[in-house]
Amino acid sequence: MDREAILKKFEPNLSNILYIMHDLQDTNPERYLSKEDVEACADYLNVPYSYVHSVASFYTMFSLKPRGRNIIRLCESPPCHLMGAHSLLDYLKGSLKVDVGGTTKDGMFTLELTSCLGACGVAPAMMLNEEMFGNLTPEKVDAILDKRRKEI
Ligand code: FES
Repeated sequence: MDREAILKKFEPNLSNILYIMHDLQDTNPERYLSKEDVEACADYLNVPYSYVHSVASFYTMFSLKPRGRNIIRLCESPPCHLMGAHSLLDYLKGSLKVDVGGTTKDGMFTLELTSCLGACGVAPAMMLNEEMFGNLTPEKVDAILDKRRKEI
């Protein structure tokens, strides 16, 4: 779906800004809001470019720079931290050979951190795109990422 078609799905009300931004980002193959996306959203909603840009900067679920085809968002809030998220992060950084915010060389995964995902009961937890995973171990993470690699 092109940018124009995405915008037309929504009434040009400011209350739709997050929906529009989500759709624009999700349909971008590099899973980010490009300058053109931000401009189009601002024009459509009749707000300044800086307004949309500041919304995109405020929420961690939006990115203003290109990312991989899959976004790993590991929870770094205290319950997950206490249950081993920190060592899981070290494991992910080592196995993917990226730092936080980085994208693997093959463009498959971007590694990000997030605050509580609301899944503290199964800490440590992460999201892979829209899907939640808990009770993570390095072995489970490997299985999740391998499965995703085979799906693409
Ligand atoms: S602290 Fe990690 S899901 Fe709540």
